[in-house]
Amino acid sequence: MAFPKNFLWGGDISAAQIEGAWDEDGKSPTEADYLLGADKNSMRVACYRMPDGTEGKVPVMSGMLPKGAKYILKDGVFYPNHKATDFYHHYKEDIALLGEMGFRALNLSISWARIYPYGVEKGVNQKGVEFYRDVLKECRKYGIEPVVTLYKYDMSAFYIEDWGGWSNRKLIDEYVEFARVCLTEYKGLATIWNTFNEINVPLMLCKMVHKTTADLQRGYEEIHNQLVASAKVVQLAHQIDPDNKVGCMCAGCFAYPYTCDPNDFLKLQQEAQAGFYLFSDVFVRGYYPSYAKSIFDKEGVVMNVSEEDKADLAAGKVDYMAFSYYNSSCITTHEADATVKGSIKNPYLDASEWGWQIDPVGFKRALHELYDRYQLPLLVIENGLGAQDTLEADGTIHDPYRVDYMKRHIAAMKEAVEEGVDLMGYTMWSCIDLVSAGSGELRKRYGFVYVDAHDDGTGTFKRYRKDSFWWYKKVIESNGEDLG
Ligand code: BG6
Repeated sequence: MAFPKNFLWGGDISAAQIEGAWDEDGKSPTEADYLLGADKNSMRVACYRMPDGTEGKVPVMSGMLPKGAKYILKDGVFYPNHKATDFYHHYKEDIALLGEMGFRALNLSISWARIYPYGVEKGVNQKGVEFYRDVLKECRKYGIEPVVTLYKYDMSAFYIEDWGGWSNRKLIDEYVEFARVCLTEYKGLATIWNTFNEINVPLMLCKMVHKTTADLQRGYEEIHNQLVASAKVVQLAHQIDPDNKVGCMCAGCFAYPYTCDPNDFLKLQQEAQAGFYLFSDVFVRGYYPSYAKSIFDKEGVVMNVSEEDKADLAAGKVDYMAFSYYNSSCITTHEADATVKGSIKNPYLDASEWGWQIDPVGFKRALHELYDRYQLPLLVIENGLGAQDTLEADGTIHDPYRVDYMKRHIAAMKEAVEEGVDLMGYTMWSCIDLVSAGSGELRKRYGFVYVDAHDDGTGTFKRYRKDSFWWYKKVIESNGEDLG
């Protein structure tokens, strides 16, 4: 068998995209609760109001909410994350379905805003603590190993409005305290922890929308604070339970040079360093890589890393390297012949309905590249296909496109494992339908389980098994041998 006997086959969900119950049981609103669907530039924005009554819109996770502004909700607007697919009220049924599929792992995120809705000073929200305890126990009931992501973009909105979000060093202590509650309360129930989801994404967004060098400076400082916070939590998790395995995660952004011009390769290498390795090198190796300064200089930012932060980064190295992988892209210094939804079209690849280019071979390459670089166990958190599904009159959903996507990616992953890559597991996005993070849509579905919920706010919220549900069940039963 290619995969080890204890290979973690499973899936992923995330609090802000699946739970709903946005204002129930003491939870405070997060940025996600103010987000509208994506605009014509594929960017989700939130509305805000200034103290003088003027209103504006701010792009998601850009860190660019003006000082003094408060997020606002607009009347008559549908906010997809408010009810999402209502996992908060369906978690027993949902986890039972994952149990039926034979899941061995579920990567889920804990909403910080349920645990500490108004910050450490105002105290823990016991109802939030109990909710996740029940969820974790429910997973255990079916032999599902929880992989707990501590932060997936859902801190309370007041931290952004009043504290300046991650640009404020005080947030590091708040996050560590939040993590301490989770690590202590759920000791034994969970032993695999992921400190941050796709830690490289907020800076990517900041680079896309920033207006000044000061915005960029703040973007880099925010990420530095998150890297330090992550390293502190790795140390804490090891102290609280030596059995804990702690990782951090990067969004896979793997690319090819579009031409064989050496300059295209150089550009690719620079973008990989700036967009991915700058982060993973820090959380895996415990220090900023030698090329970091040239990136900061090029961007015009100045990063003064204190001795205390250096010590924390060095002491808080992760136990495994997690990454997501959906697609690949092309990079060039020349004009490209064609584009697919704004990205350079790779003529060798198909694309999803949303223009994401499907590349299982690139997945194999990513696995080799990361294992070769770090020699640490890898964990694939998030790989999947967003597509529109049709619920038939008899309650079936035929999604051969999803099966095909996964079959090809799992086959590629299997080859990488046979060739020596040490892989702990594979959790597929998103196992149960939920709200798309990038577009805010419910029609962009990823799950094996269909949820009858729609973008106009209608739906019964009933759960249905897609064809891919039965297929993945077989894959798990055969430990990845039967991909037929
Ligand atoms: C990942 C995110 O990058 O991509 C998920 O961690 C997200 O939250 C997933 O849902 C797919 O992206 P989208 O925009 O199709 O939801």
